[in-house]
Amino acid sequence: MYLGLDIGTSGVRAALVNDAGTIVATGARELALSHPAPLWSEQDPDAWVAAATAAVDNLAARHPREVAQVRGIGLSGQMHGATLLGEDGRPLRPAILWNDGRSQAECAALERRCPSLHAIAGNLAMPGFTAPKLLWVARNEPKIFERVAKVLLPKAYVRFRLTGEMVEDMSDAAGTLWLDVGLRRWSALLLHATGLDLHHMPRLVEGSAASAVLAPDYAQRWGMTKDVVVAGGGGDNAASAIGLGAISPGDAFLSLGTSGVVFRVTDRFAPAPETAVHAFCHALPGLWHQMGVMLSAAASLTWLAGLMETPAAVLLVPLGERVDGPSPVSFLPYLDGERTPHNDAAASGAFVGLRGATSRSQIVQAVLEGVAFAARDNLAALSAAGGAITELDLVGGGSRSQLWAQICADALGIPVHRVEDGEVGAALGAARLGRLAATGEDPAEVCTRPRRLASFTPRASVTAAYDEAYRRWRALYPALKESA
Ligand code: XUL
Repeated sequence: MYLGLDIGTSGVRAALVNDAGTIVATGARELALSHPAPLWSEQDPDAWVAAATAAVDNLAARHPREVAQVRGIGLSGQMHGATLLGEDGRPLRPAILWNDGRSQAECAALERRCPSLHAIAGNLAMPGFTAPKLLWVARNEPKIFERVAKVLLPKAYVRFRLTGEMVEDMSDAAGTLWLDVGLRRWSALLLHATGLDLHHMPRLVEGSAASAVLAPDYAQRWGMTKDVVVAGGGGDNAASAIGLGAISPGDAFLSLGTSGVVFRVTDRFAPAPETAVHAFCHALPGLWHQMGVMLSAAASLTWLAGLMETPAAVLLVPLGERVDGPSPVSFLPYLDGERTPHNDAAASGAFVGLRGATSRSQIVQAVLEGVAFAARDNLAALSAAGGAITELDLVGGGSRSQLWAQICADALGIPVHRVEDGEVGAALGAARLGRLAATGEDPAEVCTRPRRLASFTPRASVTAAYDEAYRRWRALYPALKESA
């Protein structure tokens, strides 16, 4: 039995997976997000630990016999979040998250200070990444910066609390801008550009390797009878890839989580900073990946549902399983700025084309389509960065919707597939990494592809209309930027 824990932004998800590779039970606990100032996005690191342990407490209460047999735990997590710890291992301030846009000026400073940054880190400096956040703290909260003893990413902080060890895996470490992504080791040069050194970093392991052992008090609390190995794990996107069996070069998927991601496995470090595509390590040794990242995918729908005081699932009902063509309303999903392709933390969201007759459903449809069009931008960026992608599996909470899947197929112009357990892909991938670390099995045997539940192909009847809607949508960002 294996346990996957995904420390997401909107919540922690847990998946208990048996030796046959089947999910036996899942659990979830929600997390709150705080935006104390414009562009800021923060969370309390101890809330991740409380949510993760509560999710496992609940699984252990419901499935005591299965939880007792857990041999390996894998962790997956929201990437990039700067978790600053003092000498005593306690957080010095709230964590600054992946969708925080405050450090645009520090990105420019980092690129000036370190001209080889793109070549070593494989990426543009973007405010979502960890290094510019530390530079922001150094400039704006110098007393806190002086006390920083270690910088961990979200899942590494949870690991530290569960095991006492400070360790990070390659896929998540790649999102800091401190890793030499091609060589898979910390770069003293990049750390120096942020005023840090190797001592501030946790030990590195591959995602499928053992990182630590679960502390005895937790093992006891959950009735676990064996020594429980905790795997390196993966950043949530790399972990989703493991859950989907995306472990061969060229395998690709679209994640519709809080963020949106178009992800492709590569057999080498393949940076393409000019496209704003990220080039990171995969969670298995000898593999890398490229990805385009949208900061507000399912987050856009959650935002709308909050404004309309109606659950997202209820908002979708009147639209049915497919629509006859694009909404007359266009929506830019840049609620937290955008990474790929614009690298613009200051970009903002917009509805365009509203009329007195505009209906609630047209607004809801516009939000789904705005995210799908942003995914089309990402697909184009990945094509430029390494060749065309011809089909995509879907993962993340948004992958539950047939309607959104059909809109994605129509808007992207390629087939997309809903897969079994797609909405818990990262937790499943984490559990698989836990298994690999505990057993040393061949990843190809463990990381199999889930069953496809349904395939959605672009419909000829709406292709021209979606191409035209995309063309209009694309013109909005430069026009609005101009007028800002
Ligand atoms: C990836 C990214 C997001 C977060 C979401 O670069 O910032 O996908 O990992 O959890």
